[in-house]
Amino acid sequence: MRVLFCLVLAFGLAAADQYCLSEMTRSDERISKHGYPSESHEVVTEDGYVLTLFRIPYSHKLGNQNAKRPPVLLQHGLFSNSDCWLTSGPDHSLAYLLADAGYDVWLGNARGNIYSRANNLISLNSPKFWHFDWHEIGTIDIAAMIDYILEKTGFSKVHYAGHSQGTTVYLVLMSERPEYNDKIASGHLLAPCAFFEHGRSAIFRWLGPLVGTPGGIWNTVLVDTELIPRNNLINRVVDNSCGTGSPFDSICKNGFLMFANGGYQNTNISSMQQMIETHPAGSSSNQGIHYLQLWASHEFRQYDWGTKKNRELYGQELPPDYDLSKITAQTHSYSSQNDALCGPKDVDTLVSKFVHLAEDHRVPWESFNHLDFIVAKNMRELVNDLVVERINKYESR
Ligand SMILES: *[C@@H]1O[C@H](CO)[C@@H](O)[C@H](O)[C@H]1NC(C)=O
Repeated sequence: MRVLFCLVLAFGLAAADQYCLSEMTRSDERISKHGYPSESHEVVTEDGYVLTLFRIPYSHKLGNQNAKRPPVLLQHGLFSNSDCWLTSGPDHSLAYLLADAGYDVWLGNARGNIYSRANNLISLNSPKFWHFDWHEIGTIDIAAMIDYILEKTGFSKVHYAGHSQGTTVYLVLMSERPEYNDKIASGHLLAPCAFFEHGRSAIFRWLGPLVGTPGGIWNTVLVDTELIPRNNLINRVVDNSCGTGSPFDSICKNGFLMFANGGYQNTNISSMQQMIETHPAGSSSNQGIHYLQLWASHEFRQYDWGTKKNRELYGQELPPDYDLSKITAQTHSYSSQNDALCGPKDVDTLVSKFVHLAEDHRVPWESFNHLDFIVAKNMRELVNDLVVERINKYESR
């Protein structure tokens, strides 16, 4: 009850936001605080979105600025941003581990999140700004980021790692624009999300039936709007509630981790607290609706606009499937038993659609859940070290 009261209070006071501005640490500041060189780049997409890419060009520990440094692109999940690759610090977070292994590390930010909230052609206040989904993030944003990185670095291929939605957009791009497979040195999918038939998170049960089928009232109301924007006051309330032993600890554990829905025994709480500063980071409602559609349909396919608009857009009544057999890039999957969103049975389905998957790795830790790939205390030994090792192999290092 108290949790509910506080959340209502936070939303109610959202108007007073400007009086409570809390400091927000940007990804590039986080990086330089640890002594690493950091850069910020802007990539403009063909439809006008201005995306921020952060970069750790080399490691100050190695002093390898003049050495050959193959590029790696890291892409965050839904409601997230580039900070997710940084908040556990140099000893645990993947971005630093890769930099210290000699790579040129680029951190992507999808359209609509706090670092990519601008469009040269459309106002942020227009519903048109939010008329996108992870289909466009994959086919347009990730493609633009890859091209930009290759142009800047002179390499012909980039290594890619994504978490959650960061894996969905990879699958979308590689199947919809298969020519991009040639630009991938290797792909690493952490908690890969494409099929949701067996998703056991409460999110699916609560929202799936209401939002997962096209044409319903909820769909019409929700479409093309910003979903859970970042709000300073809410972020602060949640932030202060997440310390161990604080009276509102349960907001953090039940509310924020609701998305993970698999417990918090592996969670690095101080990393989580840093994440909360810039999360949720902003996304379009269509991204969430589209995922719920996949849960309802059991298919990995394009956005369902209802029969009439589907016929106009796709030339068929149902949206077309993403053809995963088109993926030829060397792709490694890392999934876990206790993932309530993208669990083992749905990973089985995903794996079965590949003509060639380089690796189907199952994390051998029973309680490891969806968010643990980003904030677990043991994610280095269970996941990140493996990713670095695999990439090293491709580079014969
Ligand atoms: C937990 O996160 C903090 C904050 O970034 C970091 O300093 C620490 O090394 C992390 N520990 C583990 C075990 O992940």
